[in-house]
Formats: sequence, structure tokens, C-alpha cells
Amino acid sequence: GAPVEVNISKLEQGQLIRVEWRGKPVWVVRRTEDVLKQLPELDGQLRDPASDELQQPEYAKNGVRSIKPEYFIAVGICTHLGCSPTYLPDSFGEQVEGVSSGFFCPCHGSKFDMAGRVFQGVPAPLNLVIPPHKYLDDANVIIG
Ligand code: FES
Repeated sequence: GAPVEVNISKLEQGQLIRVEWRGKPVWVVRRTEDVLKQLPELDGQLRDPASDELQQPEYAKNGVRSIKPEYFIAVGICTHLGCSPTYLPDSFGEQVEGVSSGFFCPCHGSKFDMAGRVFQGVPAPLNLVIPPHKYLDDANVIIG
């Protein structure tokens, strides 16, 4: 499949855009300061906070799993049986108390934080996958 170019210049804080790459949904999310601040505090509730069990690009091997902290880019497919999780920017607290936003898989209830890291006690075995990508400039990123 061909690489996909995404313009992120209009993305607002908290907004997610979905593109298709190799027949898969890929998400680009602009994370807020609050979300970024909270991510390290969640490590104790996650199955694999440092993504040790997952192959992922070198540039995603950090606490926020991205090149630029503000922008999170992931394949939007649950690592359990392949459903696409729902982005809950405001109501994720109903899934994990005290956490305002995250991703919830409606199929069997897996929960992921805003870095795509899976919470403990759900069926998904691994964190969400980070696709290969790079920034062309401040406004454009290429997936693939
Ligand atoms: Fe997501 Fe089963 S496919 S929890």
C-alpha cells in the first residue's frame, strides 16, 4: 500500500482524525497538556507501560509513544480480535475512574490510554500498534 500524507495543521486539541492506510484505520490525535501530564501517572494500571512486548518504531519508544508528544499516531485496531476501539475524549472516566480520555473497544471491553497502552484486566494482550511515519514539515506527516 502507498504511504498516506496527512495534514495536521487544522487539528484542534483533543481532536482525532482517521485515515486509511493499507486498508487499516490510522488515527492522528492531538493530545492536550493535561493528557500528556497524566500519561506517566498511569503506568501502574497498565499491562506493558514501556511497550516491551511490542515491536514498534525506535522513535515511538518513549513515554508518550510518539515523535512529537502532542501528536499521537496509531493503528486504530484492537490487539485482541481486531475491532476498532472508540475514542472517548470526555467520557472515558466511566471506563477508568479519574482518566478523562482514552480508547474503549466495544467488542470485549478492552481499554487503552492516550498513548494506546492497554490497561490491566482486559482481553487485549498488547498495546496499540504505532505505524511507520515521519514528519515532512510542521503541517504534514506521512504514514507508511
Ligand atoms: Fe477489542 Fe476484543 S476485539 S476487546
